[in-house]
Amino acid sequence: MNLLVIGGGGREHAIIKALKKSPKCETIWCLPGNGGIARDAECYPVKATDLDGIVQFAKSHPVDFAVVTPDDPLVLGCVDLLEACGIPCFGPDKRAAIIEGSKVFSKELMMKYGIPTAAARQFDDPMSAIEYLKTCDYPTVVKADGLALGKGAVVANSFEEAEKAVREMMVERVFGASGARVLIEEFLTGPEVSVLTFTDGKTIVPMVSSMDHKRALDGDEGPNTGGMGTVAPNPYYTERVAAQCMREIFLPTVAAMRQEGRTFKGCLYFGLMLTERGPKVIEYNCRFGDPETQVVLPLLESDLLEIMLAVHSGSLTADMVRFSSASACCVVLASRGYPKRYETGFEIALPEEPQGEIYIAGARKEGDALYTAGGRVLGAVATAPTLRQAIDGAYALAESIRFENAYLRHDIGARALGATK
Ligand code: AMP
Ligand code: GLY
Repeated sequence: MNLLVIGGGGREHAIIKALKKSPKCETIWCLPGNGGIARDAECYPVKATDLDGIVQFAKSHPVDFAVVTPDDPLVLGCVDLLEACGIPCFGPDKRAAIIEGSKVFSKELMMKYGIPTAAARQFDDPMSAIEYLKTCDYPTVVKADGLALGKGAVVANSFEEAEKAVREMMVERVFGASGARVLIEEFLTGPEVSVLTFTDGKTIVPMVSSMDHKRALDGDEGPNTGGMGTVAPNPYYTERVAAQCMREIFLPTVAAMRQEGRTFKGCLYFGLMLTERGPKVIEYNCRFGDPETQVVLPLLESDLLEIMLAVHSGSLTADMVRFSSASACCVVLASRGYPKRYETGFEIALPEEPQGEIYIAGARKEGDALYTAGGRVLGAVATAPTLRQAIDGAYALAESIRFENAYLRHDIGARALGATK
């Protein structure tokens, strides 16, 4: 089969490497891909948000199946357009992708169907939001309704911080139209777990759980990033918790979307917080997480393409999805300064025989050489029988990669290791 993958980060590199293991896989085209992905797929410079360009490409190539991964093309309706041209896709249509595209939608869905989440109020004018903030307990959480590159949630420790967040989102529109509405949400505490699932709209099959490290600096300090590293499985996510999530969150969500006439097919991502009063949904994503995918897919023992085809055709079964019992760790090497200002254009020296997987996120190719071209440059991933070994392996691999201005966190997995003791 000839496959088309939309996207160009470390997540897409991991997906492409997993798809390539399938005996059914022939050509993979990737739009836009990146300099590292170009070693594993044919990349063309069509942006993931350029839906016309994507459709043009798909019509002029013999694409058998498309995998749409990033949030923005999904929310914009990329799957609807490709399927209208007769190209089957993995990924939700526009009506279903709203589960990530609008936090107001997903909050109302959870309220209506009794799915546990933080209590919240929604506002579409800044003055009433600010009046309400005067009555809140702190910390409190302010969230922009729409997509905001993972930066749309602000945990405010005081009225002043919350008011500033509301003004930035609703008045200055730092996230554009995404800030036209905001949610003001109860602050929850507890360990966070990411659970990626496959669902064909009826059956839902969770992948191995994982833990992201969103903050830029060691000790969970500094600004939120796209994710500085991950481990899988997440030791806080015990079998008992998993069963409770299936009963109270996963199955009800899939049923709710179907009931709303928004059947979700693809990878549904649950961002959960394990509070003292049980697991609650922090966010839904309509896609694979980045860098969660980089630790989850290396542990997948079954054929990813077969699973994706079954999701598309509505024939997914739990026994199609098998994971190894090993652990994995991904350490992100970023450009120093990320997520704020940073310099790029430095040559990346990769080891001849890497001990693990290197998924390239932000690099361009010139001849045979790779140069940094983004905030998150790559993920160094190791799998091993124990979490400790996986963490050590990922750091050893990261050490063997060199480029100027490289930055990494030193404590990926430390909290997870603490939980296993
Ligand atoms: P989100 O963009 O919704 O994934 O939120 C980003 C991060 O903000 C989450 O990973 C949490 O760490 C934090 N967060 C979001 N909502 C809440 C909440 N209600 N209580 C506490 N922390 C939250
Ligand atoms: N790592 C979090 C996300 O992909 O949204």
